Amino acid sequence: MLNIALPKGRLGDQVYKLFSSIGYECAAIYQDNRKLVFENPDNQVRYLLVKPSDVAIYVEYGAADVGVVGKDILLESRPDVYELLDLNIGKCRLCVAAPDGYVEDRGRVLRVATKFAHVARDYYAGLGREIELIKLNGSIELAPILGLSDVIVDIVESGKTLVENHLHVEQEIVPISARFIVNRSSYLFKGDLIGAMQAKLTEAIS
Ligand code: PRP
Repeated sequence: MLNIALPKGRLGDQVYKLFSSIGYECAAIYQDNRKLVFENPDNQVRYLLVKPSDVAIYVEYGAADVGVVGKDILLESRPDVYELLDLNIGKCRLCVAAPDGYVEDRGRVLRVATKFAHVARDYYAGLGREIELIKLNGSIELAPILGLSDVIVDIVESGKTLVENHLHVEQEIVPISARFIVNRSSYLFKGDLIGAMQAKLTEAIS
C-alpha cells in the first residue's frame, strides 16, 4: 500500500483527478464527511487529506510515502525529500507586489510582508537590498494597504486579489507548479510501487 499525502482544497481536487485517471481511484474520497483517510486496497493506495503546507512534512517524516505539493512550499520549507516530477498543474507565480502608484525609496530599508520568509530573504539578499521582514500567515495583501509594509512577496494566480486591492506585480521571483515528492526511505523500500506510479504520472502529463 502507498500512502499519498493529498493537499486539501483546489489543488487536491486536480491532483486526485490526475491520480484517479491513471488507475489510483478511491471513490470513497468524494463522500461528504469529515474523514481524513481513504483507502482502496485494490489499487494499493491510501489517501491522507492534509493541509497543503503540511504535505512535505508528512512525506519527509515517512507518515506518507509520496505527496503533491506546490514548489512555493518546497522553496520555503526545504524538506528533505525527493522531488521527482513537475506535474504542470497548480500553476502560479511567486511575486513582489506593491500598491498602485508605489515608488520605491532606495534610501531606506524596504519593509516586506510575506509568509515566504526564506524566499523573500534570499531574493533580496541576491539583489543586495536590505529589508525588514514582516512574517504574516495570510491575507498578505492587507499589509501595504494599512502601511504595515511597503511591498509583499506572495503567490499570484489569476491576479484578481491584487487588482481588487489596488496592488500590482512589481517583479516575478519564480514560476510555481505542483511537484510529486517522495520520502527517501520509501523510494528504496517501496521502489516498485513508486516507480510504477512515477511512470504513469510521467505518461499522463507528457
Ligand atoms: C493566495 C495568495 C493570494 C491569492 C492569489 O491566497 O496568498 O492572496 O491566493 O490568488 P489570485 O491571484 O488568483 O487572486 P490564499 O487563497 O491561499 O489565502 P491566504 O490569504 O490565506 O494566503
